[in-house]
Amino acid sequence: MNDLTKPFKRLPVALIGTGSYVPERRLTNSDLEKMVDTSNEWIVERTGIEERRIAAPDEKTSDMATKAALRAIEAAGIQPEEIDLLIVSTITPDTFTPSTACYVQANIGAKNAAAFDISAACCGFLFALKTAVQYIGCGQAKTALIISSEKLSHIVNWEDRTTCVLFGDGAGAAVLRTGSGKENDSAVLASDIGSDGTLTDILKVPGGGTAIPTTEDNINEKLYTLAMRGNEVFRHAVQHMKDSALSLIERTGIKPEDIALVVPHQANLRIINAVTSRIGIPPERVFVNLQKYGNTSGAACAIALDEAVRAGRAKKGDIVLMVAFGAGLTWSSAAIRL
Ligand code: COA
Repeated sequence: MNDLTKPFKRLPVALIGTGSYVPERRLTNSDLEKMVDTSNEWIVERTGIEERRIAAPDEKTSDMATKAALRAIEAAGIQPEEIDLLIVSTITPDTFTPSTACYVQANIGAKNAAAFDISAACCGFLFALKTAVQYIGCGQAKTALIISSEKLSHIVNWEDRTTCVLFGDGAGAAVLRTGSGKENDSAVLASDIGSDGTLTDILKVPGGGTAIPTTEDNINEKLYTLAMRGNEVFRHAVQHMKDSALSLIERTGIKPEDIALVVPHQANLRIINAVTSRIGIPPERVFVNLQKYGNTSGAACAIALDEAVRAGRAKKGDIVLMVAFGAGLTWSSAAIRL
């Protein structure tokens, strides 16, 4: 990629295609009743989740990412060689290095892309979106493929009922391209990302990195699995998602009634309801699919966006508001005219 050599005018960025993939295997709440001390009633009442998808043992994060990417590429009507930026967001990479993005690049033949991963947990898709918008906006890329793919079943402690009921596997993708700038054409209207690193402890995978290296003892203590203080995460999630969405609405001048559909992070139905009621959006304009997939981290927003588009819930010209939160803590939102 070339460096910037002269002042530039920010270019518009259009979203031209979406795709997603979820594994075949369903793990229902009644399946979980046989694994830990829980019940379908508890899970549905506290989260809204009914089942989640689990990747096959030999199915890698890059395999799911590749399937979602190919669907997004097909929907966008482009060739893989046209992609010059490829970003994968994941907390469950195939390998620590190389990046999962490089595996996907090879799988799809996006030979002209610069490919790299980002880590922003459940906000990963919207952090990737913001990153791609900056590259395209300043003329450093023309066509970006952004993907979030997660094999969370690999890092879930299947003996911990407070977390194992929440998560699932899947991938979602979108293609972004320099837009026309015309009033009714697709455009990413605004996006917001933020973090609070003083809250790293409330949701994390403690082991496996340089802080707590992989040892036999650490593996036996399941330190490579997700640990969470659910109540605290819940409280911060509602606050930050609301604030991020409202600041975006204020900055763009969009009114809540202009928003055709909210596509939020799919962690918990109670969080979604609390956030959307606070920003003044009725439930019929909120897309929810967590009952089928649970929380697939960064992939959740991306899968939901793709399903909403394919189901006709969000159509060309509609303004969609996406909003997410995740480990870090991180939060993010984006307003997109499709
Ligand atoms: N089945 C049955 N009981 C369970 C349970 C399960 N799967 N998990 C926890 N419980 C029990 C707890 O042990 C507790 O029992 P106690 O009262 O005897 O101590 C009781 O249910 C209430 O637990 P609590 O944690 O207060 O429930 P909650 O209403 O806060 O719901 C979460 C828990 C995890 C669903 C909720 O806090 C949440 O969704 N937080 C946000 C998590 C999140 O989104 N994480 C991902 C971020 S991207």
